[in-house]
Parts: sequence; C-alpha cells; structure tokens
Amino acid sequence: MSQFSRKQVRPNVLKICILLGLQYFATGFGNRIITFKEPMPNKVLKGYGIGRERVPNEGSCRVNCYLNPDCVSINMGPLIEGELTCELNAATSGNEYFSRLVYQKDHTYLEIEQNPCGSSPCLNGGTCQAGFTRTGFRCQCSIGSFGKQCETMSPNFTAFLSAKSCSHLKELKPGAESGTYIIDPDGYGPQLPFNVTCNMTDKNGVGVTVISHDSENRTLVDGCDPAGCYSRDIHYTEASLPQLASLTYVSSHCEQFIKYECFHSRLIFLAVYPFGWWVSRDSKNMTYWGGASPDSKECACGRNNSCVKRRRCNCDQNDAQWREDSGLLTDKSTLPVRELRFGDVDSFDDHDEKGYHTLGKFKCYGPGEEAKNFQSLSFFPKVFKLKPNDLQKQRLNNRVGVTVISHDSETRTLVDGYDSPGSYSRDIHYTGASLSQLASLTKTSSHCEQSIKYECYHSRLFKNQQEPFGWWVSRNKSNITH
Ligand SMILES: *[C@@H]1O[C@H](CO)[C@@H](O)[C@H](O)[C@H]1NC(C)=O
Ligand SMILES: *[C@@H]1O[C@H](CO)[C@@H](O)[C@H](O)[C@H]1NC(C)=O
Ligand SMILES: *[C@@H]1O[C@H](CO)[C@@H](O)[C@H](O)[C@H]1NC(C)=O
Ligand SMILES: *[C@@H]1O[C@H](CO)[C@@H](O)[C@H](O)[C@H]1NC(C)=O
Ligand SMILES: *[C@@H]1O[C@H](CO)[C@@H](O)[C@H](O)[C@H]1NC(C)=O
Ligand SMILES: *[C@@H]1O[C@H](CO)[C@@H](O)[C@H](O)[C@H]1NC(C)=O
Ligand SMILES: *[C@@H]1O[C@H](CO)[C@@H](O)[C@H](O)[C@H]1NC(C)=O
Repeated sequence: MSQFSRKQVRPNVLKICILLGLQYFATGFGNRIITFKEPMPNKVLKGYGIGRERVPNEGSCRVNCYLNPDCVSINMGPLIEGELTCELNAATSGNEYFSRLVYQKDHTYLEIEQNPCGSSPCLNGGTCQAGFTRTGFRCQCSIGSFGKQCETMSPNFTAFLSAKSCSHLKELKPGAESGTYIIDPDGYGPQLPFNVTCNMTDKNGVGVTVISHDSENRTLVDGCDPAGCYSRDIHYTEASLPQLASLTYVSSHCEQFIKYECFHSRLIFLAVYPFGWWVSRDSKNMTYWGGASPDSKECACGRNNSCVKRRRCNCDQNDAQWREDSGLLTDKSTLPVRELRFGDVDSFDDHDEKGYHTLGKFKCYGPGEEAKNFQSLSFFPKVFKLKPNDLQKQRLNNRVGVTVISHDSETRTLVDGYDSPGSYSRDIHYTGASLSQLASLTKTSSHCEQSIKYECYHSRLFKNQQEPFGWWVSRNKSNITH
C-alpha cells in the first residue's frame, strides 16, 4: 500500500515542478503569441517608433519585437555590411481607408496579423499590448483605473477626468447647471481639453455643448462680382477645428444655423461655379444650404418645391427683391463651418446687389456611438498628453489640484539595531497603484514631489561621498544619495 502511494506521489511532484518551470518560463517571456503577416517591401510606418537597433538579420528583428510587449510592427532597413536597422513600432498600418504607411526604398515593413489593439480596447488611457492572454491582448492600466480593460475608475481618481461633452457631463452629474465647463472629447487622446458653454435646458435637457465664434452677427456682403469673391473665415472661441471634430465624434447630433439674405445676388448651387457656398471643417466647398440634405445642391425650400419660381433656392432669382435662404446644417461629419464664400454682390442693371450672412453658434448634443470607442477612430498611439489644465480642471470640480498617493510607510518609524551601510531597509508600498502606474502619473504631471526626513541620534547618512550609510532607492532601482 505505502509503496503504491509513494509511486503516485512522485509523478505528481514531478508534474508540479514542470508546471512551476513552465510558469516561470511563461512569466519570464511574457507568454506572448504573435504572428507576422507577409513582409511589405519598400514601405515603412512613420511616427510610432519605440526603439531602434542594428541587428544581423530579419529573424532577430522579429525576436526583438516579440520581446518588447508594446511592439506590433517593424520597419527594417537594407542589409548593409551584415547588419540592418530594426525599428520597432507601437502601431500597425490601419486599414484600407487610413493607411499610415509611406514609401521608402529598400526598406521592409512587417506587422502582426489582426492587431487586437487597433480598436483600442484599453480604456481610461490604458496601454494595450498585443499577443497576450486568450483574448489576444492585455491592458496596462494607467493610474487610478483597473479591470481587464481598465474600465473601472477608482473613485479617488475621477477628479482627474473631464467630461467628453456637455451631454456626458449631464450624464455624470445630472444636477449640473448651464455654464462654462472644460470638456475633453478625446479623453487621453492628443487634443487638449477646452472651454465650452453647456446649455443644460435646451433639447429636453440632454446637455448641449455650445461653441461661439467671431461671425455670429448679421454681416453685409457687398462690393465684388466673381464667384466666391467675398470670403469670411470663422474663428471659434477657444477651440480649434480638430478639437471640434473630436466633439462631433462623441456627439450623436451637431447643428449650425446658416442664413443668406440676398438682394439681386445669387447662390445657384446647380451651376458648375456657384456664386456662394460654405467650406467644411476639412476644407471642402459645400454646395447645399441649411435645411437641405448634403449633396442635394439646394436650399431648404427646394426640398418641398417651395422656392420662388420653383428654383432650388430663393437666392437664385436675381429679381431685385430681398429674399432669403436659411436652415440648420446637421451633417456632423463636415461641421463646423470653416469659411463662408459669396459672390455676385457688385452692381448690375443699375441694381446694387448685396447680401447679409448670419451663422449661428455650433451646437452638439447626445451621446455619439463613437464616444466609448473614440480612440479607435483617431488612430493615435497610446501616448500620454500633458494636460497643463489638470490643476485648473480639478479646481473646477472643487477638488484639490494635486493627486496624492498614500503609502504604507508614512508614519515616523524607528531605525535601530543596524550598523553596516544600508543594512536597514524598508520597501514602500503605494496604495492602489503600482510603480509603473505612478511613473505614468509623473509623465502626465508637470510637478511631482515627496518629502523625506531622517532624524538622527549619533547615526550618519554619509561617511563620505563614496560610502553612504543611508540612501533612497528610486522607482527604477537606482540608489540615490542626495
Ligand atoms: C479613497 O480615499 C478614501 C479617503 O481618503 C480612502 O478611505 C479609500 O480607501 C480610498 N480608496 C481607494 C480605492 O484607494
Ligand atoms: C477656460 O477659461 C478660463 C477662464 O476664462 C481660463 O482661465 C482658462 O485658461 C480656460 N481654459 C482652457 C483650457 O482654455
Ligand atoms: C439654452 O437654450 C435655450 C433654447 O435655445 C435658450 O432659450 C436659453 O437661453 C439657453 N440658456 C443659456 C443659459 O444659454
Ligand atoms: C456683434 O454685434 C454686437 C451688437 O451690435 C456688438 O456688440 C458685437 O461687438 C458684435 N460682434 C462682433 C464680433 O462684431
Ligand atoms: C473651393 O473653391 C475655391 C474657389 O473656387 C477653389 O480655389 C478651391 O480649390 C475649391 N476647393 C476644393 C476642395 O474644391
Ligand atoms: C415647405 O417646408 C417649409 C418648412 O418646413 C414650410 O414652412 C412650407 O410651408 C412648406 N411649403 C410647402 C409648399 O409645402
Ligand atoms: C534611473 O533614473 C536615474 C535618474 O533619472 C538615471 O540617472 C539612471 O540612469 C536610471 N537607472 C536605470 C537603471 O535606468
């Protein structure tokens, strides 16, 4: 009996040892599985490099990528004198509509198959690493967030984040009142937060983000003849066009009122060269007017054939009478209006042709489908942006403008009974955050500080410069003697 049981025990022990060995291997090498697609000749990916080395061959470049958990593609230079440059990238080339690859002679581009990080599954600024776990990726969460996809924010860190839009703010704080707020539509993306007005009563109280600009007043258009000869650039208050584009991504609806009052001045969108038009945020000439559908080449009245003389716009008549075309532009993929252009406002047949334009504030509301997955749209690598406004933002939330991380060694602690240099040691464990998370916090902050005190009774910190008795150890394990 006893021999039998011993026999049974041994293979189990062996099995456990093998398992432990495998486990060690697995953690040591990250247990990463990645497969590369066919190499693409004469291409490289620019702007996402995370390291560059000279290696003897393509194989070792692939291994370098495998060993760097952030690497998902590589640019390889030509083989010169038995070596080639191996540049690791933290992004892949995108899709057929959005390729970031550029031509570079004699270089080769290689990327992994199906980059699961392409859809940015890690939320709240977490870094996605491809090739890990059964789902094909793992998330390195940034400070204050946790969960498989960093989906949970520690309540102590929510002061860090601003709302993506006024609708989002309303969702977070249903009691929020109309007023000025800072929003950050792309979260940890590259666009900085900006000031907006939130109207919390308009549109059934969903929370409307309102952006003012410098051309809201009714403005005279006069004194020139050729198509588009009059132009007016629109400058939005405190927001750039890319910031406003990101606002449209996180909103389900956007709108801007537009009106042209005309006296013997024409729009005529159907013409090869219309006289007037508006310019979209990405600089396209838009030849339809408020209230009509995009590509219709008409004005609101054209929709139900109610324009004067059944034309496509009231301002197509040229009949020496005041007329107007107006309505809401609502195609959020082209808004806001970047520029207004008009023509045919000289004098003709003894008529002093002229017009007036009026452009409303830019408004967005409702949760966009893209809101949650915003980062997948914009294809930026996971870099932290410095937000100089963090302090101000937190003041806005009535919070202290400082992120405070506690640890287990804050109380005055006795050091006694040790003689040789550094023989007393105490590891510091920070509350709710790993050292790498705290390192990323230092990247997003302009200043960090930690006070340190040693009270001594016949105990020395420094014998001399070369032989300290005491020191502190930095997050990267360096002994620091100042
Ligand atoms: C958040 O802060 C409160 C009060 O300072 C503390 O009691 C709590 O443990 C903190 N929670 C986390 C998750 O760190
Ligand atoms: C927002 O407005 C305030 C007050 O007008 C200003 O001090 C602050 O710099 C603005 N913030 C941003 C992000 O533009
Ligand atoms: C909010 O919008 C409504 C409707 O457009 C308007 O009447 C009201 O004055 C706005 N409130 C603020 C504070 O701007
Ligand atoms: C718009 O008109 C108002 C009232 O006439 C005036 O106070 C304001 O300065 C004008 N705004 C611009 C940008 O011209
Ligand atoms: C828009 O119209 C202007 C003036 O006719 C022209 O110079 C410009 O190239 C046009 N832009 C586009 C994108 O077609
Ligand atoms: C066309 O639509 C406008 C706006 O909806 C409306 O005011 C007008 O009465 C309509 N005209 C006709 C002829 O249906
Ligand atoms: C750790 O950081 C210090 C200060 O930035 C630097 O001088 C040192 O080279 C780093 N050490 C390691 C091992 O990375």
